[in-house]
Amino acid sequence: MTRPKVGPGESGPKVPVHVAIIMDGNGRWAKRRGLPRLRGHQAGAESVRAIIRACRDAGVKYLTLYAFSVENWVRPRAEIRGLMSLLKRFLRRDERDLHENKVRLRVIGRLADLPAEIQQELKRVMKATEHYDAGQLILALSYGSRTELSDAVRRIARRVRDGEVTPDAIDEKTIAANLYAPDVPDPDLMIRTSGELRISNFLLWQLSYAELYFTDVLWPDFREEQFREALAEYARRHRRFGDIG
Ligand code: FPP
Repeated sequence: MTRPKVGPGESGPKVPVHVAIIMDGNGRWAKRRGLPRLRGHQAGAESVRAIIRACRDAGVKYLTLYAFSVENWVRPRAEIRGLMSLLKRFLRRDERDLHENKVRLRVIGRLADLPAEIQQELKRVMKATEHYDAGQLILALSYGSRTELSDAVRRIARRVRDGEVTPDAIDEKTIAANLYAPDVPDPDLMIRTSGELRISNFLLWQLSYAELYFTDVLWPDFREEQFREALAEYARRHRRFGDIG
């Protein structure tokens, strides 16, 4: 989680190493067309494919997608089922692309909350791709940042109880090391589609120094061209990491 490569006062690399995305607006996209919400999610899955390809082409190494939040479990059952079957289809159909591009699949979130067959499929693809190092696709599933931080605190508390760590030794590194994917560098750029200006419990710790990019474009309409615009905006920004600029 510590900042890679750039020091205070230097501008960051022009291409973000890690992009995190809140994919929002599938429901509104469908509603505007008089279609069921699930059609919006289906079109959203096509955007997922397009953005994975765009990351590969642009040289973005890590892509984290907020695919299902801990809060999303309150949605109608049929919608949840539809989202899970889209995820399953994605894992089956797009696994080949991961292999061809040497991309490792990972999950952050409470994997155990997901239906058993989705867990199985995710574990299978994660295992099959774990040795790849060209890039990482990180799906946030049943993910919530407060849940992640609570899980981290619980883990640290157990280590204190077992005498492995003293309370005085707990610092930022201890917390970062106990998050779901501790070896993944913090996102450089966070994109949220659909005009909502919120972070919605997404990577609260990891986004501390990220550039935030909000666009009115709905997720199903967010494709390579829109992604390139976000990267261009990122390249124009000057990151100071707390230093003077
Ligand atoms: C937000 O739109 C989107 C989601 C909650 C789910 C995102 C899922 C996908 C893009 C499809 C499947 C994912 C993968 C990884 C294949 P919303 O429903 O909240 O839209 P609204 O705010 O307009 O109602």
